[in-house]
Amino acid sequence: MNILKELRGRFEAALKGLAEEPAELLEMIRPAQDARFGDYQANCAMPLAKRLGQPPREVAARIVAALDVGDLCEPPEIAGPGFINLRLRGDWLIGLLRRAVADPRLTIAPTAHRRTYVIDYSSPNVAKPMHVGHIRSTVIGDALYRILSFLGHRTISDNHLGDWGTQFGMIIFGYKHFLDREAYERAPVAELSRLYKLVNQLVDYHEDRGRLPELEARCGQLESEAARLRAASEAATGADVKPAAKALRRAEGQLEEARQTWRQVRQKLADVDADPRLSSIAASHAEIGELVLRETARLHADDPENLALWHEFLPACRQEIQKIYDQLGVRFDVEYGESFYQHLLAAVVEDFQARGLSRESEGATCVFLDGFDAPMIIRKRDGAFLYSTTDLATIKYRLDTWRPDAILYVVDHRQSEHFQKLFAAARLWGYHDVELRHISFGTVLGEDGRPFRTRAGDTVGLEGLLETAEQKAWKVVCENDDAKPQGAELSDEQRRHVARVVGHAAIKYADLSHNRTSDYVFSYDKMVALEGNTATYMQYSYARMQSIFDKGGVRAEELRERDVELCLDHPQERGLALELLRFEEALTDTLADYRPNLLTGYLFGLARRFSEFYEQCPVLKAPTPELRDSRLLLCDLTGRSIRLGLELLGIEVVERM
Ligand code: ARG
Repeated sequence: MNILKELRGRFEAALKGLAEEPAELLEMIRPAQDARFGDYQANCAMPLAKRLGQPPREVAARIVAALDVGDLCEPPEIAGPGFINLRLRGDWLIGLLRRAVADPRLTIAPTAHRRTYVIDYSSPNVAKPMHVGHIRSTVIGDALYRILSFLGHRTISDNHLGDWGTQFGMIIFGYKHFLDREAYERAPVAELSRLYKLVNQLVDYHEDRGRLPELEARCGQLESEAARLRAASEAATGADVKPAAKALRRAEGQLEEARQTWRQVRQKLADVDADPRLSSIAASHAEIGELVLRETARLHADDPENLALWHEFLPACRQEIQKIYDQLGVRFDVEYGESFYQHLLAAVVEDFQARGLSRESEGATCVFLDGFDAPMIIRKRDGAFLYSTTDLATIKYRLDTWRPDAILYVVDHRQSEHFQKLFAAARLWGYHDVELRHISFGTVLGEDGRPFRTRAGDTVGLEGLLETAEQKAWKVVCENDDAKPQGAELSDEQRRHVARVVGHAAIKYADLSHNRTSDYVFSYDKMVALEGNTATYMQYSYARMQSIFDKGGVRAEELRERDVELCLDHPQERGLALELLRFEEALTDTLADYRPNLLTGYLFGLARRFSEFYEQCPVLKAPTPELRDSRLLLCDLTGRSIRLGLELLGIEVVERM
């Protein structure tokens, strides 16, 4: 049940004769900020009064007179300049809760407007180290997938693996020149990662050599620019002082950045030069950048040798990624990957050309798009297709196959321009009726405030991440168990299980609970803490609710069957009940802009509400057996809501911890 939607529906009916376009007015009905003014508040009388040129309190009175909410609310009150305060009736709340008790969906109705969604998420580049950004995409995408499916939408998850890119040129080149056969036979993926890293380092080395003079020149330029501005700033007077200082600060910032890049590049070069083996390989492979490109081009041209190598490498690489999905409990409906679309790319380009939607420019096929300076290139001069070409073919394939109403791309914010152009090109191509959305997200930062990197290197990095979280969780779980007044309750094996669940949940929840568009700092200690908006706190709250039943010797299933009379007389009981009944509202909010942090926020608020209730309303020691049962039923509903909410986020609970 979505109470807010219900109320808005009632207001819509009441506004019929009063307002032409009620949508904006209906938006102004919201949960009340302050419980003293009721549960919900409608602030629409004021703007409507302006439209009508009438006194707002009078307009409020007219709305109230036309409003039919007697079954769910106490008589509405008009306050101040024309606020309409709504307080839900106790018997109505109780009726709803009773329905929730008997309903596995907790009264959350499947949608009346079923849509088909394709969600493109995770999508790492195989054979390259998977970075935390891919975990973030995986976790957010999986949560959206679960929520949309739960609400009754047809949902298809597609892992658009990068399994055809230039990294294969690197590995193939490495395989042909630097393979340690024995190591490869022992652990293929580890050896392939080593080759990838080595070749990548060598390619970078020669590229960096080439751009060093340019970087140095840029620093010089910025230095003289800063010097000029410093002099100007010192000489400035009056109103010029501030802007001059600002310009100077900006220039100094740019200079610092350029110097840093220059330093880093020099350091990278020095690292290679200091290693005799590496520097001699580098010296004897000056053309490596070009040669790697050639290996990629050969693969893309179906060269039998390179294709055979690709077929040899791919299963091992995919298995490696699969291990992480298994640990995270994530699965996909389809995993086509970029290679799947390769035989469709030529036709995409031909179609753009045939319809006059592209132009040849310096040998490349380009799509010029309104509002963008640079065109989108769909075929390079040497005939190679691009990431964008594959994405266009993918859109066509998805539309032909599933006819989706929406395609969601959960990909980090650095690709926003790519997606803006892609969507514009798709529209130009004639795909108007599908919602195309980039669900962008920010960078995961280390505690030093810089992008979080796993130990420079291999795919094991992510496994290491999960492992470390598990270890941190293990400590928290043991300390908590040891500190129990009646002594520790968990066996070693139980502790291990709990630590695994809690550790993985911590990582997922940290990704989900931060506003997806902001960067956030990855901190193991914060994410497994028992206090604050963490998975650990949520799981702990859940386990505490279960322990109430254990202690009381009550079986929740049996309680649900019984005809328990619910009582909401205490303000904390009522507050908790109302919060419980806002679950569907929270899901609606979450999907409005695809923001899972609105769901974690709701669940955290619910858990805190529960704490307040539990502090003030004795449950097992309630004054009467009837009240005890009523309160136990509230505990049960809260536990079920938290479990369901976490499940929709892909997070497990444990019954004891
Ligand atoms: N493989 C890409 C990367 O790791 C992400 C792909 C996202 N999906 C897409 N359809 N472009 O950056």
